[in-house]
Amino acid sequence: MNNNTTSEEIFFDDHELIVSMTDPKGFIIYVNDIFCKVAGYERSELIGEPHNIIRHPDMPRSVFKLLWDRVLAGESIYAFVKNKARNGDFYWVKAFVTPIIEDGKIIKIASYRRPVSQFIKEEISKVYDALKEHEKHNRLEDSFQFLLGFLDERGISYDRMIDRLCMGKSISNIGVLSIDFDQFYIDHIIFKHNIIHAAKEGKWETEVVKPCCCRFGKNLKELESMPFTAHPSWHKVHQCHNEVHSLMQDYLDKASRGASLSELNPILDKVENDTKQLFSHLHIAIDTYR
Ligand SMILES: Cc1cc2nc3c(=O)[nH]c(=O)nc-3n(C[C@H](O)[C@H](O)[C@H](O)COP(=O)(O)O)c2cc1C
Repeated sequence: MNNNTTSEEIFFDDHELIVSMTDPKGFIIYVNDIFCKVAGYERSELIGEPHNIIRHPDMPRSVFKLLWDRVLAGESIYAFVKNKARNGDFYWVKAFVTPIIEDGKIIKIASYRRPVSQFIKEEISKVYDALKEHEKHNRLEDSFQFLLGFLDERGISYDRMIDRLCMGKSISNIGVLSIDFDQFYIDHIIFKHNIIHAAKEGKWETEVVKPCCCRFGKNLKELESMPFTAHPSWHKVHQCHNEVHSLMQDYLDKASRGASLSELNPILDKVENDTKQLFSHLHIAIDTYR
């Protein structure tokens, strides 16, 4: 394996398929012409060599561990891999690696590779950079756990990450999809009932929480950097949320001044309506990101 790398990228065409096969230990037994052309090797230089001959130092070890774990368990896997050509240039592939099993035994392993879009390269590089950084200071097993934790935090599996990227969907900030927004809906129902109860009991000094200070309001603040907050529905989410809180303040103020039910009930109807709208706008905004 040569250790020099360059910053030159090699591209190959959409209709081209790079193929290789190894024995169960990862020694190359077959490569097609496109493999040789893109990687810049003669076939004779590759046959019999370990497949890490084209390993690029930017690739995290934990990704290969996952690949080998899956394949040796008899399963197939997709992976985005940055490879190194003979002259040190690099090329990205989307690899489908699959074991060939006969009589219950893996006899060889095949890999079929297609080009990768610029979007995927950029997204996956962020993940791989984070993994590489972790691997600098940690053992392989810990780094592998870090990869699993990284995916877990975002509420996705490895395969779902690959699928999302292939659909052109971002995996940054994907954790939002696992936020329990229904809980915030319930929070606001409880909020409304607490204020109604306080009014009934004549507890006029009860503090009506400001929109910035409830759990949902704090989450809205944290989510502000996310792509879906550019969606027009997001603006409506803020509007409705502010409105719900100010209506409940209004309700308590009016009740404290002895307002009649015919004056108070429409406020509650409006709160209910705004709360529903708030969460339907929220789902619309987030669905664009799903
Ligand atoms: C069929 C097959 C295809 C593979 N293709 C590649 C590849 O294109 N690039 C690569 O770096 N590793 C590939 N590997 C994984 C390598 O065997 C190896 O695990 C990896 O390069 C990491 O090398 P290292 O253990 O020396 O760090 C492949 C493995 C198999 C079984």
